[in-house]
Amino acid sequence: MRFAILASGNGSNFEAIVTAYEAGDLHGELALVFSDKPDAYVLHRAKEHKVPTKTFTVKEHGGKAGYEKALLQMLKDEQIDYLVLAGYMRILGEELIAAFPEGIVNIHPSLLPSFPGLHGIKDAFEYGVKITGVTVHFVDKGVDTGPIIAQEAVTIDENETLDSLEIKIHQVEHKLYPAVLKRLFAEAE
Ligand code: GRF
Repeated sequence: MRFAILASGNGSNFEAIVTAYEAGDLHGELALVFSDKPDAYVLHRAKEHKVPTKTFTVKEHGGKAGYEKALLQMLKDEQIDYLVLAGYMRILGEELIAAFPEGIVNIHPSLLPSFPGLHGIKDAFEYGVKITGVTVHFVDKGVDTGPIIAQEAVTIDENETLDSLEIKIHQVEHKLYPAVLKRLFAEAE
């Protein structure tokens, strides 16, 4: 079972996953990290951990259709069985999703179906909910709509700021995602 991590940004979730992987906690093989942003910090992190990297942009492939085709081909060439999205800021195309049935997972920083989209933490904070959290879910063609695998709640305290909430959410993400992948990959093998 070979898995790839798709990420567009900082890569703190990648860091948590690769740390678990290096500790021998995850089944399968971490084959590569792909980013649609050639200067994403996640690629630097991957190199530090000696994980192979791939990157190309939508623009290089003349738009979304060409990009998705190239991505799917690359994943096939690399014999990838499972995709782990970790801050990947693009919506996957239908062909790509169909190529990995039940084999694409994502992490989202709210208790879905509440606060989907790009700003899950801020939207929950500004709405004034007292409990938010983290969701790991399978990916379907909607935005943050696939079947939920695991959730963990985070309390928003009286004196909470957006910054302190972000820290709490990320701490939960970094524990929850490796734990869920450990279980999923053990079942997938
Ligand atoms: C995380 O909050 C994740 O839930 C969301 O994007 C963010 C990625 O952060 N999908 P990082 O790049 O892993 O640090």
